[in-house]
Amino acid sequence: QAPAPRYRIGFSQCSTNGPWRQAMLAGMERELSFHPEVALRMLNANDNSQVQQQQIRQLLREGVDLLIVSPYEAGPVTPAVEEAIAQGVPVVLLDRRTASARYTAYVGGNNLEIGKTAARYAASLLRQRGYVAEVLGTPGSSATAERHQGFVQALAAYPSIRSVGQVEGDWTVNTVKPALRTLLKAHPEVSLLFAHNDGMARGAAEVCRELGRERQIKIIGVDGLAGANEGLDLVRRGLLDASILYAPGGEEAMRTALSILRRQPYRRENTLGTLVIDSTNVRTLQQQTDKMASQQQDILRQQGLLQSLRATYASQRTVLYGLLAT
Ligand code: FRU
Repeated sequence: QAPAPRYRIGFSQCSTNGPWRQAMLAGMERELSFHPEVALRMLNANDNSQVQQQQIRQLLREGVDLLIVSPYEAGPVTPAVEEAIAQGVPVVLLDRRTASARYTAYVGGNNLEIGKTAARYAASLLRQRGYVAEVLGTPGSSATAERHQGFVQALAAYPSIRSVGQVEGDWTVNTVKPALRTLLKAHPEVSLLFAHNDGMARGAAEVCRELGRERQIKIIGVDGLAGANEGLDLVRRGLLDASILYAPGGEEAMRTALSILRRQPYRRENTLGTLVIDSTNVRTLQQQTDKMASQQQDILRQQGLLQSLRATYASQRTVLYGLLAT
């Protein structure tokens, strides 16, 4: 029988929709495969702040030793996270933030910097002049607010680039389409779109194509995941001009959580690196991610082998003890 876990970690995930969130969980599980003493319990809030608050409170009642929270919207989830801290349960915020400074550690990309990087890249694509528009993520999520703020701040350095406005999305491919169609029809001068993730960037590319403007309008997304129809693939196929890498950070969050639980030193702010993925580096990056995926397969195979060796050893030991006893 497996021994009781030494640490129980609760994970309040805003959504399990899409491969980016799946990659986050896979990263956590990869890290946990080295730590059998830790049990992870994830609750999925399905993009609903009300549900997420309840789930955080439920995990607290169940007595988890630490919480990892990726908040759907910053404001509504804040009180539940503050309650955890008040009860002495450490909280690692992952990817998105709450509206308060009361948390133990943050792990994720610098979304303000991502917005700024998008603006600078847009300026170079447009040779510093033209009209742009933005496709925002869920209003109320910290990632949306920070990406938007960074984009606007850095664009201010280019007086000949003007933003004609924004449409609000929910990070998925289709919901942005009607509003974007309307915006692009009203503004034939738009020549670049900054979409807050690659899913919405793909939706934007489909709208541009529908309107016969795919050559005129450049598109920048965020995430840069591997896999069919994800950022790397979309950039390689020329549907997006660039995607700004935004790592899901599952492993890093788990490592920070473990340091906190073991009372080892940890950093409060853990900023994951980013880079612009475009036609100049997309093939190299794709090769690297393919290689990493195959190495991961090797690790899994080795773990399986170790497990079966252990089982063989255990059964041989039973036989041996049986012989000794007779
Ligand atoms: C996934 C996602 C990513 C995005 C991040 C922002 O749910 O929408 O595509 O970069 O969340 O928090």
